[in-house]
Amino acid sequence: MYVQNASVLDRKPVTVPGLRAMKTQGQRIVMLTAYDASFAWQLEAAGIDIALVGDSLGMVVQGHASTLPVTLEHMVYHTSAVARGLRATLLVADLPFMADRDVAHALTAGARLVGEAGAAMVKIEGSAAHVLDAIAALTARSIPVCAHLGLTPQSVHRFGGFRVQGREQAAAERMLADALAVQAAGAELLVMEGVPVELGRRVTEALAIPVIGIGAGPHCDGQVLVIHDMLGITPGKRPKFSKDFLLGRDSVAAAIAAYAEAVRGGTFPAPEHCFN
Ligand code: KIV
Repeated sequence: MYVQNASVLDRKPVTVPGLRAMKTQGQRIVMLTAYDASFAWQLEAAGIDIALVGDSLGMVVQGHASTLPVTLEHMVYHTSAVARGLRATLLVADLPFMADRDVAHALTAGARLVGEAGAAMVKIEGSAAHVLDAIAALTARSIPVCAHLGLTPQSVHRFGGFRVQGREQAAAERMLADALAVQAAGAELLVMEGVPVELGRRVTEALAIPVIGIGAGPHCDGQVLVIHDMLGITPGKRPKFSKDFLLGRDSVAAAIAAYAEAVRGGTFPAPEHCFN
């Protein structure tokens, strides 16, 4: 990778144990998606803590209406590309739809994403019994896991669309219990997507592991966005929880730097990006 700014190379690598220390120290964690080496390098140069190769690539890169058509081969391909653009930024890759159908498939997927493609952690959606089994099996083999609760896009058909989750009291209590369950199974990080601010706060306070929000309010330990959304280039309507950071700025680098500053400074998400 061609390096324009050598000081970028001095950055201390972000590690899985280091994430918990960031939570303890009240240091907000900045996470952003990337799908290729060039954008990965933009994240690296901006000092982003975590790069996520999300299966959102099915929508923003491949043009599908959901994340469901993304395969393990696609994930390995894009994760390998992103890994070549990173140095200190921690790399997390999604387990695609049905890669968690049993422990054997989850382990195969985890081994390929970490061993072959270069991820440091894999992300898995939900908290059903087979997911908890997969989290435990992966962590037992030293494959760190990021759990994902709330508006989990692989469940789009069960939800009847991309809808905010945990609005009713009973659903909120269930999600809090689910969050404790994924932590107990061994997850080292949790992404909470599309939930009311109060639930984001309760889960963040209840867990020892860091909670990264996307449409989960300002009280989470960190924030994640899909890079196409925060650059304002996703076709169609921008999700309410996102913000176009390129608007009024003259480069992708400036937009990513502004996003990182807004997350670390606590000015993003603002009330207009949240659900109540
Ligand atoms: O696939 C993805 O990009 C994600 C984020 C939206 C958290 O899961």
